[in-house]
Amino acid sequence: MGWAQAGRGWGQRAVEWAYLLEPYARPANELLFDRLRVSDGVRLLDIACGSGFAAQLASDRGAVVAGLDAAEALVTVARARTPAGDFRVGDMFALPFADDCFDVATSFNGIWKGCEGALREARRVLVPDGRYGMTFWGRYERLGLMPYFLKVIELSPPTHGAASMEQGDTGRPGVVEDMLAATGFRLAERGTVDVVNEWPDVATAVRALAAAGPSVPAIEAVGYDAFCEVLSEVMSPLHDRDTGIRVKSEFGWISADVG
Ligand SMILES: C[S@@+](CC[C@H](N)C(=O)[O-])C[C@H]1O[C@@H](n2cnc3c(N)ncnc32)[C@H](O)[C@@H]1O
Repeated sequence: MGWAQAGRGWGQRAVEWAYLLEPYARPANELLFDRLRVSDGVRLLDIACGSGFAAQLASDRGAVVAGLDAAEALVTVARARTPAGDFRVGDMFALPFADDCFDVATSFNGIWKGCEGALREARRVLVPDGRYGMTFWGRYERLGLMPYFLKVIELSPPTHGAASMEQGDTGRPGVVEDMLAATGFRLAERGTVDVVNEWPDVATAVRALAAAGPSVPAIEAVGYDAFCEVLSEVMSPLHDRDTGIRVKSEFGWISADVG
């Protein structure tokens, strides 16, 4: 799938993604920004920045932020969140930024197995002593959202299911290490961090998850209403009368230096 098509999919329900989903990654955003020493004056690029929630956190630390995403509707929210930021619509495999112009580059669940081209671009725009960090899905048995992923794979055409599995494979030991070594980075640290999706009820959870890119081919295949009905059945067992829905999942993360 080309970047423009991916962007159209991710942009279909942009405000739902921005406000009902993207903030759940905050523990991962903060952890990586700590590890990469993101502070006052640091020039940071967030690749596949979505609606700019992470970039906003970096800006709150005093960083000078830029972001790039394929989805124009998400970039519009990013600009509203951080008016001083330089947010562009485009392809992470051809970054519209000059060589050597960022101190730090990050990507939160945006660069996957097979995306070495995007890492090469990240390397190009970083200064010679630049720092890079990324997150990806953690171990399958630690993914509270697994029932969602399995359902969208079941509802989607087979090619999309294969692509989702490939993304999940990014966290397998050695995969990211090989990608970094092939693209001019030196691994600094690797770890895991838990993130929690919190929703008050099943309807809100379904509205949120329908906005995620992996839902798009499933929605196209069965229609929005049928999709929501099926997903409600998947999410209902996770609902607690007193605490709503709280789904914990593991992210993997790495930090790296320009090698
Ligand atoms: C899982 S979302 C992550 C968004 C954000 N980083 C976050 O933490 O929520 C993946 C993002 O990658 C973007 N994307 C997919 N392919 C892309 C490409 N080739 N170039 C730029 N962005 C892309 C999508 O539009 C989407 O916003």
